[in-house]
Amino acid sequence: MIAGQSLERIVVTRDPAGTRALAGALAAVARAGDLISLVGDLGAGKTQFAKGFGAGLGITDTIVSPSFVLMAEYRGRLPLFHVDLYRLADAAEALAGGLIDDRQAEGVTIVEWAERLADAMPAERLDVLIDGAGDDPRRITIRPGHSAYARYLEAVPATVETADEAGTAAATTPEPER
Ligand SMILES: Nc1ncnc2c1ncn2[C@@H]1O[C@H](COP(=O)(O)OP(=O)(O)O)[C@@H](O)[C@H]1O
Ligand SMILES: [Mg+2]
Repeated sequence: MIAGQSLERIVVTRDPAGTRALAGALAAVARAGDLISLVGDLGAGKTQFAKGFGAGLGITDTIVSPSFVLMAEYRGRLPLFHVDLYRLADAAEALAGGLIDDRQAEGVTIVEWAERLADAMPAERLDVLIDGAGDDPRRITIRPGHSAYARYLEAVPATVETADEAGTAAATTPEPER
């Protein structure tokens, strides 16, 4: 690690559209084979993030949480594989259910409740941690788990509140009043 180098970005969004816009901006740098881990409580905004990311990939179908399947596939600039492990009993079940699939090398895989996979989740991934609930603003941490994912840090829009590695808030361009 290099001192002073930004290892993560923290973005505050004030509504679901803000979270979708952030995710859409990140999708601009998505590459085939990317893996994104979404971690946050129920109602944090993981599915909102997936919707925005899908929109950024040019997906026009409505992205909903896959309720009866572990993984749903959507067609866009890259295929999007949307995984929701909310109802998962354990990681072994996911792996037995074919969660890691050869086709994913050709698209982007977004995993809600990724922490339920524990060590079965590959370390080469982008971590997205969402804090906040209800109508409160969401604090969204974008953290590459590998240098191959550093490009996502560059894709974070400049017009959002950001924080440096030490967590000191440094608002850039103020958000317009709504
Ligand atoms: N800043 C925000 N970002 C995302 N969602 C928000 C935000 N503020 C309020 N919400 C609301 O929180 C809920 C998030 O739901 P969802 O994305 O399904 O959560 P999860 O998939 O994490 O369980 C939605 O009802 C959304 O309207
Ligand atoms: Mg969800």
